[in-house]
Amino acid sequence: MGVSEYITFTSEDWVLDLKSRSVLLVLSEAEMTSAHFEDVTIGQAQVLLATTPPDARLEEAQLDAATILILEIRPDMPKSIDRLKQVRASHPDLPIIAATRDSNLSLVRMLLKQGVRDVVALPLAQTELAAIIAEICGELDARKAAEVQQGQLISVLKSIGGVGATTIATHLAGELAAGNTGKGVCLIDLDLQFGDAGAYLGLSSQLSIADLIAAGARIDRDLLRSVASKSANGLHVIAAPIDIMPLESANSEQMLRIIELAREEFDHVVLDLPTNWTNWTLSLVALSDIVFLVAELSVASLRQAKRQLQLLASQDISSSHIHVIANRVEKRMFRTINLDDASHALGHQIEYSIHNDYPLVRAAHDQGVLIDAIRARSKIGADISAMLPILTKEAGA
Ligand SMILES: Nc1ncnc2c1ncn2[C@@H]1O[C@H](COP(=O)(O)OP(=O)(O)O)[C@@H](O)[C@H]1O
Ligand SMILES: [Mg+2]
Repeated sequence: MGVSEYITFTSEDWVLDLKSRSVLLVLSEAEMTSAHFEDVTIGQAQVLLATTPPDARLEEAQLDAATILILEIRPDMPKSIDRLKQVRASHPDLPIIAATRDSNLSLVRMLLKQGVRDVVALPLAQTELAAIIAEICGELDARKAAEVQQGQLISVLKSIGGVGATTIATHLAGELAAGNTGKGVCLIDLDLQFGDAGAYLGLSSQLSIADLIAAGARIDRDLLRSVASKSANGLHVIAAPIDIMPLESANSEQMLRIIELAREEFDHVVLDLPTNWTNWTLSLVALSDIVFLVAELSVASLRQAKRQLQLLASQDISSSHIHVIANRVEKRMFRTINLDDASHALGHQIEYSIHNDYPLVRAAHDQGVLIDAIRARSKIGADISAMLPILTKEAGA
């Protein structure tokens, strides 16, 4: 079975993959040619085209990766019906839509009896296909939501490297973990090239996010739990890879699978994201309940923060989910007119500010502990605590 191409139904350059849903469309060459699915947007469903004769066997790996299967049926070919039965037997949970030219009632009834979810007429019209996919995705979502409560997803972004995103992510996650009496909190360092969240927390695991990426579809809760190390304060941490790896070595599908699993396992999942954008980082941000953007009150940092906000806005990521944090704010600037000026320049309110205290932060990083292990009552500690209400309020929402 030849995979001819991926179609992603979006005209943007950035491809947001929000659901890790993949529709496998199996049609013969003749039907592929007569199908009409150009120029129609149906949201973010990714459709994998497989040009295959109506009676040829399907590849296991492709079926494994599919969320929905659209399968050509030729009632005049017994092997075509056998193929349907085989897929039903080997993948009983995979929703199947039969595509056929012959839509007489007895055939439709036979297909439904075989467990087919729906029947669509050939030649395939994209609007009809889109409607059926949307309906099935809606049902899958509802089933998923009923199954397990998904933990809150919190992304921490930075205007430019070095503004303190990892410092804030580790402390926020640590505070959340300290106050959590439920399933716990997991910090995932997705800064695949420069991640140092593990080191800041004194952890030195050989396992990392790279092991989860490498596991692909085989990832499960046991693997996730074994890769996560537990810090002194009970926070679970999935570290960045030991060796620098290309951002492109991950993709949206894998990352969404990992994050989805983490959200089932923990009450809060905090992501420390890289500075550079890729489709998968943008997809994760779009999926987040809360997005923190860390900046400094410098012209360069605010300029980049503004560009980040523009990108997020261009992808329809609601600005009400985005909370800007000014880090390393000098005492004299704290809650003064300067912050208002900066908010104005940014075009977005700066909601939180964190005091500048380099010796304290540096000592904590050097010792691999959170700052409250060094100084119980610090200004930075209080500033971090001030952010907790929005996280616990919206948790699980
Ligand atoms: N509030 C702060 N006061 C003083 N120094 C800070 C503060 N936050 C972070 N730093 C310092 O800034 C540097 C970069 O921090 P880090 O969290 O690694 O940034 P990023 O993850 O954004 O690249 C570190 O050396 C850290 O000690
Ligand atoms: Mg960092």
